[in-house]
Parts: sequence; C-alpha cells; structure tokens
Amino acid sequence: MKDSPANSLPIGIFDSGVGGLTVFQAIRKTLPEENIIYLGDVARVPYGVKSPPLVRQYAYQITSYLIKKGIKVLVVACNTASATSLKFLEQNFSLPITGVILPGIKEALLTTRNKKVGILGTRTTVESGAYQKLIKSMDSSIEVFATPAPLLVPLVEEGWIDRPVTRMVIKEYLAPFKDWEVDTVILGCTHYPMLKQVMEQEAPGIKFVDAAKAVARYLRELMETQSLRGGNGKEEFLLTDTPEHYFSLFSLFLQREVKNIQLVKLEDFDEPGRLSLDFRP
Ligand code: DGL
Repeated sequence: MKDSPANSLPIGIFDSGVGGLTVFQAIRKTLPEENIIYLGDVARVPYGVKSPPLVRQYAYQITSYLIKKGIKVLVVACNTASATSLKFLEQNFSLPITGVILPGIKEALLTTRNKKVGILGTRTTVESGAYQKLIKSMDSSIEVFATPAPLLVPLVEEGWIDRPVTRMVIKEYLAPFKDWEVDTVILGCTHYPMLKQVMEQEAPGIKFVDAAKAVARYLRELMETQSLRGGNGKEEFLLTDTPEHYFSLFSLFLQREVKNIQLVKLEDFDEPGRLSLDFRP
C-alpha cells in the first residue's frame, strides 16, 4: 500500500439527500481507515422525479465542488444520478468514479437462478433504462422487469420501516414481480436497503440485492488496483440545506449520532454553458 499525501485525500460520496448514507455505511464498514466526505443535496432532493439533464447539471456541480475541495475517488451513491449522469461525469472529470448500478447488477447476475431479474427504483432511474440496457449488454439471456417505487422514499425518511402502511405499499410494488416469477430484485434506490428485511418477509421467494455492499466491495478493489488506499478514518458530512432537521435522519440511517454536519453552498460550481436554475419556471 502506498502512503502518499494524495492517498490520504478522502473518498467523496454524494447523493441527492440522506439515502446515500446506506452506501456511506457500507463503505465505512469495508474501508474503516479511509477518510470520507459525504455530500447530501437535500436542498434539491428528490432527484428521482427530475429530468435527466437537470440531474446531470446537479451532478456536475457537486462533482466540481468535491474535486476542488480535494478527493481521490468519487462515489455517485444516488441511483438516479448514476443512471442519468455517470457517463457524463466520466467524460468531464479525470478522477476514478464509481456509480451504484454496475456493482448491483454484477451481484444480481451471480444471484439469479432463473434469469429473471427485477429492478425497483425511482421513476427517473427506471425510465432512463440504464439498468435494463446494462444487464442486457452483460447477459442478453436475462429477462429484466422494472417498476418504479417512489412511495418508499418518503416512508423511509419518516422512519416508517416496519409499519402496516409500509408493508401494504411494499406488497403492492412486489406483486408484479411475483407474477413475472422474478427470483432476484435489485434495490435500485438508496433508501430501499432500509426496507430489505420487510421485503424479504413479504416475498420470501425473491432475493433482494443491496447494491450498497456491492459498491463498497467494488470500491475497495478499484482503490487497491490503483494504489489509492490510505487515511485515518476521518469523516465530513456536508448538506446543501441547513442541517438542523437532518440529525435524526442521520441517526436512523447510521444507527449512531453524527454532530459535525455542515452547510455548503454550490453556486460557484455550475456547469458552463448550461441553463442557470434561475431560468427554470
Ligand atoms: N437517492 C435517490 C436514488 O437513489 C432517491 C431519492 C431521490 O429521489 O432523490 O435514486
């Protein structure tokens, strides 16, 4: 393992909000010595109902900000941002970048027995076709079935993990997968791993793939091959809106208290040549 100043730079993780803390958590467990900056764009969440160009603009702005601050590798923890913006970020920035889609798919392809794979995600993720296209390009014999499950995000953020209403909504979303006889479902949204246990109880015949753990393993491999390991376990949490309301959500996702959440301003990092958000209706 190299020990250069560049190696002690943090891993940058960003998400539309706090859901990406599921990915943060998995990375923290897999790479305990690494320094990590987590940026949650809570001022503009949800991304899952926004158009791909707008999400790309946000992703560009946040990536520019994190690079200026100093990171050695970027994790796009948000599935919607990964589905719409990963290629665009890779074309525009030269640091190593990983999204959450490929690691989740790899895991699903190892898991499925009957080659029928389901995707649960936000509306923008499902409509982007990113999962469907990538799966087909990796194994054209796989049948892919995708369903948007937007109601699960607010239920998780309310902390309603194991409530009757949450079970009802989950049952409704999983019913088509049972009809299609899917044996593996990728949890294609940051929030859904929080509901994995309830889903397993509601659909015992289906295996649910938590992409967060797969991302952490993928990142460790990537950093090892590029000799990027190193750090002393520091953490920095940044939000684009005032943090007061978010302390309890951080506790829900991380199962511990976090005190050092800071507000950041991103205005100076707009993508050149794109419409300023001020012009939007
Ligand atoms: N982080 C988003 C995702 O994984 C979910 C919340 C949102 O819609 O912004 O797609």
